Amino acid sequence: MKRHILITGGAGFIGSHVVRHFVHKYPEYEVVNLDLLTYAGNLANLRDIEQEANYHFVRGDIGDIDLVRSLFREHRIDGVIHLAAESHVDRSIRDPFLFARTNTLGTLSLLQAAREAWESLPTNTCRFHHVSTDEVYGALQPGEEAFCETTRYNPHSPYSASKASSDHFVRAYHDTYGLPVVITNCSNNYGPYQFPEKLIPLCIRNICANKSLPIYGKGENVRDWLHVQDHAEAIDEVFHRGRDGESYNIGGINEWRNIDVVKLLIRITDEELGRAPGSSEKLITHVTDRAGHDLRYAINADKLRAELGWSPKHTFEDGLRDTVRWYLTHKQWMEDVTSGAYERYYSEMYENRRS
Ligand code: NAD
Ligand code: TYD
Repeated sequence: MKRHILITGGAGFIGSHVVRHFVHKYPEYEVVNLDLLTYAGNLANLRDIEQEANYHFVRGDIGDIDLVRSLFREHRIDGVIHLAAESHVDRSIRDPFLFARTNTLGTLSLLQAAREAWESLPTNTCRFHHVSTDEVYGALQPGEEAFCETTRYNPHSPYSASKASSDHFVRAYHDTYGLPVVITNCSNNYGPYQFPEKLIPLCIRNICANKSLPIYGKGENVRDWLHVQDHAEAIDEVFHRGRDGESYNIGGINEWRNIDVVKLLIRITDEELGRAPGSSEKLITHVTDRAGHDLRYAINADKLRAELGWSPKHTFEDGLRDTVRWYLTHKQWMEDVTSGAYERYYSEMYENRRS
């Protein structure tokens, strides 16, 4: 069946993998990528597919409801995969309002446009897939059961609060207006094209440059790491076969303390650089902890496994090695995303959006 899918945030880290996956796997679909190109969005992430006949890029804000309405009309959109967001916890601590505007109000604008466009269509012909995070569930203590879909929401950071709020709006549009929706809540992703403000690409970059590796607090916080391509495949399964109104957790059963992830990365990166493995451990620097730092995230993905047969394909060590190799062979990409041009663009956009 031909589908017309609006993917938001497709120029970002996860979005670019999802766009590539859909453009290649479903040549009969039309894929429209709506992205504002903030500091985190980069069209270089999609160079290899930008000429494909079934792909269109539109630069714009998900919060611009008139633009979103016109895209639904013009492209006869019958599916949304919504990834656009402000995604970095540390930035949310500095500017919570930006996170509420983009993540909460931006999602509301998309929901309303979808509701208007799909009002007279049978619900089984349309789908709004909201991509969310495990951080909405809050923090686990050591030994506590992993998050499942019925775990109570308990967000602690402005980022997770804005994502939790967007999840609630998605459910409200389902329950109140009958909008056909699914939600996925995924654990921490890693892989190519991740912006180097996040732990793994930041450490790879700094190991290469012999710069310090900032570990917040003691490094004992635990995250459940999943390769981004495994996430893209899970989104494909849930978008096509997930049950209406349901949410699905996605995760790798792959819990690591930050300090152990960094040591593993050091070993792999040293090996790839021809240095004595472990020699970069001298770069580890413990710094002041993040405010409200969640101790532990862990995902129970049994529902997704049982209903849709999904399981991750990448082991952590192989996935990390491939990721390190990707960054080592894409130095220009790293240069470009961290150059003054990106930072300047971001600060202009940021100032404009505050006024
Ligand atoms: P990212 O920061 O790399 O990319 C976000 C993209 O959204 C960028 O391309 C940016 O330009 C775009 N964007 C931001 N504001 C916009 C706006 N107002 N209008 C249109 N586009 C806008 O983020 P990511 O890590 O790829 O995360 C994508 C989604 O997945 C987010 O919703 C995030 O909450 C969720 N998620 C991320 C992770 C993770 O580990 N990174 C884990 C679980 C869920
Ligand atoms: P991050 O990649 O920012 O993802 P999230 O906050 O969404 O989990 O951080 C992953 C973990 O690494 C988190 O516990 C915070 C920690 N961290 C550091 O110790 N140092 C850093 O420089 C960064 C960016 C994160």
